[in-house]
Amino acid sequence: MSTYDVIIAGGGIIGGSIAFELAKEKLRVAVIDRQQPGLEASWAAAGMLSGAPESPDSIPLAPLAKASLEIYPEYVAAVEEASGRPTGYRRDGTVMALFLPHVERELSTILAVHHGLGFATEAVRVEDARQMEPALNPAMRAAAWLPYEGRVDSRALTEAVLQAAEKQGVEILARPGGVKSLAVEKNRCTGVATGEEKISAGKVIIAAGCFSGTIPTIERYAPTRPVRGQIVALQAEKVKLERVVRSEKGYLVPQANGRILAGSTSENAGFEKRVTPAGMQQILAAAVEIVPELAQASVVETWSGLRPDTPDHLPSLGPTDIEGLLIATGHYRNGILLAPITTRLMREWVIQRKTSMTVDAFSPMRFSQHSAVAG
Ligand code: GLY
Repeated sequence: MSTYDVIIAGGGIIGGSIAFELAKEKLRVAVIDRQQPGLEASWAAAGMLSGAPESPDSIPLAPLAKASLEIYPEYVAAVEEASGRPTGYRRDGTVMALFLPHVERELSTILAVHHGLGFATEAVRVEDARQMEPALNPAMRAAAWLPYEGRVDSRALTEAVLQAAEKQGVEILARPGGVKSLAVEKNRCTGVATGEEKISAGKVIIAAGCFSGTIPTIERYAPTRPVRGQIVALQAEKVKLERVVRSEKGYLVPQANGRILAGSTSENAGFEKRVTPAGMQQILAAAVEIVPELAQASVVETWSGLRPDTPDHLPSLGPTDIEGLLIATGHYRNGILLAPITTRLMREWVIQRKTSMTVDAFSPMRFSQHSAVAG
């Protein structure tokens, strides 16, 4: 039976980044994925690094989001250096273009919320927003500038992270179905089973995205469920976007290769990854509202991915009441953004057994405590 210091279930951006970090600490690490790693939510993400909350649900994430944005440059530099691959990271801000009625009230609410959370969002005149991004629809009613945000090429970053991890000595094990169960002896997690194979480890970290909650025992620490998001990749010679643009209804993320990624839907469709006419209609209507010239763009690729959501839409991070079992999943809409801070926190838990910031609100224990109260 193979033995590791740490086994990580899930080879997406979260699992891969933690593996790379722990291998740098000279630990013997294996990542187990249900297929070739890096092909689930991390592959599907548009790569928008939106620190400011996209919706009220993510307001409690603000301290984590800010900390992650702060360390993004060093995280990316380490990955790029170790892998020798670019990640498309840019910290070039986001323009928010608002179209709905009563936009003045909406904008002052957005500014108050962002300022209250410590994000330096600025109201800008529509003309100034169009100076920054001439392709924007002149019919927008108000605009804001979020200079602290950025973007990354999620597929390039995930591949680079996995390569960096492998170069650092991490073993990547593709096993159909991934981790099927945990080995627990006297309340200590001693490894995992993948089908017939048993693999032992000093610590097990669950980072299997929306599949985490399907592993027996994990449901009580990370009751994840998939929320489907569809994306359309557009190519338009004439449309140049320098930075991320988002409206109340959707977002556009320009890539270095000239493609513009338009997203997204939020659908409860189980584990079914599909692109639907209704999804495309919603995304393309929002994209064309933001940049009218995109009506003439070519649709060059479409796909969908499964965000790992939890009952309170917040991630499940940290140790559990089973010794040696830790959770790092449930990042919902924010996995790419939160990869650096999640990685740092997991290193601190594994190596120092305490963290440099207070993250009790994200403890995996909150789910089992709630079910105990509910009876
Ligand atoms: N964070 C973008 C999305 O989940 O669609």
